[in-house]
Amino acid sequence: MLKRLLLVAANNKRLERQLGTNPRTRKLVSRFVAGTTLEEAIQVTKDLNNRGIAVSLDLLGETVEDLRKSAVATAAYIEAVQAIARECPGATVSVKLSQLGIGLDPAVCAAHLDDLLRAADDVGVLVEVDMEHSSVGGATLEAFRAALENYPDTRVAMQAAMRRTPNDLESFTKTKPRIRLVKGAFLETAERALQAHDEVTSQYLYLTDWALEHLPDPAFGTHDDRCIDHVKEAAVRLGVDRSSYEFQMLYGVRRDLQQKLADEGYRIRIYVPYGTEWYPYLMRRMAERPANLIFFLRSLVSG
Ligand code: FDA
Repeated sequence: MLKRLLLVAANNKRLERQLGTNPRTRKLVSRFVAGTTLEEAIQVTKDLNNRGIAVSLDLLGETVEDLRKSAVATAAYIEAVQAIARECPGATVSVKLSQLGIGLDPAVCAAHLDDLLRAADDVGVLVEVDMEHSSVGGATLEAFRAALENYPDTRVAMQAAMRRTPNDLESFTKTKPRIRLVKGAFLETAERALQAHDEVTSQYLYLTDWALEHLPDPAFGTHDDRCIDHVKEAAVRLGVDRSSYEFQMLYGVRRDLQQKLADEGYRIRIYVPYGTEWYPYLMRRMAERPANLIFFLRSLVSG
């Protein structure tokens, strides 16, 4: 119930305006967001790299209302890949296609994505495509499929909760793209997505085996011990070396575990968001863990 409320609130523009300008939210924001500028995000990346942890940078912002904003976001992403190549090679960028305008004009979005992929390829940086709400999920997957023709190392997130995901994965058995398996962070109807947390986790475990068996270099985006232990065990069972897959986690979530996996010799990449448009991202993080909400409410009261 609380989770649903928070996910509904994630799309509430009025609340976004109120909280976005409230200085008391700063403490919570800084726990999950690396900073407002690219420079701050690059510094966080270097710090994580020094601890044996890789990074994917995410420029916050989604669902642009006009195409001018999608061009601005594309330019900012191109600036990010160039900075990565100069200052912290090995990092990737994670991009949301709603930020590049997929909800407004898929052709314009495809052109922006192509510009970004070309710029990233020129400097040897890889791109990951986030999977968003099902209203743009199908279009995102088609844009990704098209991008694979020229940039086969591009990665896409696949949501275990979505009922269509097993079929989508089957459709990739020939092209064998790189994927990031996640549970799914958006409010979806029962028609489209599994609703019970246990059911989603079971599906995650099933798809983990499938990904390890069929796809190269899968990434497992999860903080769930049960899923992480299963990945490790399934990889051994299927003869997949730990250098051939990676764990991914969100900046600020289970930091001890992130370091532990790195110290144990597992590949781990942290999704590091930066920028000013943190509101919907943060609401989804709170929906994932109500304890974050208590921390947030406390910071609002105490300043
Ligand atoms: P689960 O929600 O069961 O959490 C397991 C444990 O992890 C919790 O008990 C808690 O200890 C800890 N935890 C989880 N979330 C937390 C939080 N926010 N704060 C504090 N502790 C927390 N989704 C999507 O729809 N599209 C996408 O493209 C992506 N991309 C993505 C990239 C990466 C790198 C990650 C890690 C996740 C995503 N997600 C995503 C989000 C994903 O779908 C999912 O909502 C979260 O990862 C939470 O699910 P877990 O698998 O961590 O399990």
